[in-house]
Amino acid sequence: MVKPFSAACENNREAIGSVLKKLLFKAKSVFEIGSGTGQHAVWFAENLPHLQWYTSDRRDNHTGINQWLEESGLENVQPPITLDVAKDIWPTITVDAVFSSNTAHIMAWPDVQCMFRGASALLAADGLFFLYGPMQYGGVITPQSNRDFNDHLKKTNPAQGIREFDDLDQLAKSQNMYLLEDNAMPANNQLLVWKKQ
Ligand SMILES: C[S@@+](CC[C@H](N)C(=O)[O-])C[C@H]1O[C@@H](n2cnc3c(N)ncnc32)[C@H](O)[C@@H]1O
Repeated sequence: MVKPFSAACENNREAIGSVLKKLLFKAKSVFEIGSGTGQHAVWFAENLPHLQWYTSDRRDNHTGINQWLEESGLENVQPPITLDVAKDIWPTITVDAVFSSNTAHIMAWPDVQCMFRGASALLAADGLFFLYGPMQYGGVITPQSNRDFNDHLKKTNPAQGIREFDDLDQLAKSQNMYLLEDNAMPANNQLLVWKKQ
């Protein structure tokens, strides 16, 4: 199988990585939800070598993630755990951070709720949940390219769509996680960070 490749991962990893570096300098472990190709895992594990990076995704993506992991030869990134946030049993580990990129607009809302519940359960006290992707604020999606993307998502699957910041923040609060940072990222994305209490 040809190794999967995501141009978006190559483009956003440095901006995301600079926030991870700043906030995770004392952390030891990160659990990633929806690792996709595995590119983020490899890059972040390589650039933040003090972290143990746990990957996960639905079974279909494991071959590609394993290809990236094996090729990297890194020892601080773990092979993927099978995790559909709504269907599978979550691991019973405790981590310092949970990271998920470009997943909340792909998952149906009930699955996003499962993701927040599961992320909070994995986090140690003061642990951080990082959620990257396009967001809408006050019911408004900007700019036009994100509105076009949202239309495309909804045509593909009406359950998908760019999520409202307030809805995500409420969900986080319901799981005992409180907003720490909302970072503007290149290409009209955000990196939201909540802290578990
Ligand atoms: C657009 S891709 C993003 C992949 C990667 N995180 C990235 O930034 O390139 C969306 C990812 O969400 C995962 N995903 C979608 N629904 C999911 C669910 N219910 N449980 C777990 N992962 C899910 C997909 O398998 C896929 O890996």
